Amino acid sequence: MVFESYTEMCNKAADIVAEQITLKSHSVLGLPTGLTPVKMYEILIEKNKNGEIDFSDVKTFNLDEYYPVSPIDKHSYRYFMNETFFKKINIKMENTCILNGQAEDAEKECDMYQKLIEKSGGIDLLILGIGRNGHIGFNEPDEYLLSYTHKTRLLQETIEVNSKLFDDVSEVPEYALTMGIGTIMQAKRIILLASGKSKYKALRELMAGKITTLNPSTLLNVHPCVTVLCDRDAYEGGKEK
Ligand code: GLP
Repeated sequence: MVFESYTEMCNKAADIVAEQITLKSHSVLGLPTGLTPVKMYEILIEKNKNGEIDFSDVKTFNLDEYYPVSPIDKHSYRYFMNETFFKKINIKMENTCILNGQAEDAEKECDMYQKLIEKSGGIDLLILGIGRNGHIGFNEPDEYLLSYTHKTRLLQETIEVNSKLFDDVSEVPEYALTMGIGTIMQAKRIILLASGKSKYKALRELMAGKITTLNPSTLLNVHPCVTVLCDRDAYEGGKEK
């Protein structure tokens, strides 16, 4: 679905999340970070304040986290989610799950996270952003992709793009923990959000319907229930957000 503006796209995304929670109060949501979902989070906070949505029984799993990073580091995705969203809604903090960026044993942490998602009954609705290179979560373009939650090395291009939120590119962690492609594919419903012309190329490839591990988002073409929400700039390659 193409929207004239970023805000309209985020309104639609927030409506879909609201419908999901209204239909099932114990919904399990998969959540993204990045700048794209920020407005959706703001709208959801409003909907929570005016009584339209109740997050008290909702459980969330974030897609990814830098590694290594402390959860109280302001660059961590845990910090971002707490400040941008969780502290502002009536969700129980213990129901917000994010991979531990300072786990000593990354493999064990990923395995535990994967099992926790399965134990929670799987993700009902997963919201995804998309990297300029087509990454989803931190599943970077590669010859092979991994199915389960795992530790991954970030590509230099991703480190550079993501450095906009750090003081210096050298501060961006080289690694991350991320849900795998299989973990993502097991979500019952997926929404992908794309905004701004920098996403144009990756989005075109996704919408062309051909599948390649060199653009991990294209694997979503085999998922039975994916909705792509984008603004006109991402769709047509117009101006930058
Ligand atoms: C990061 C995250 C992704 C996110 C992407 C896009 O690399 N790991 O999950 O989708 O950035 O970010 P933005 O929305 O800021 O463009």
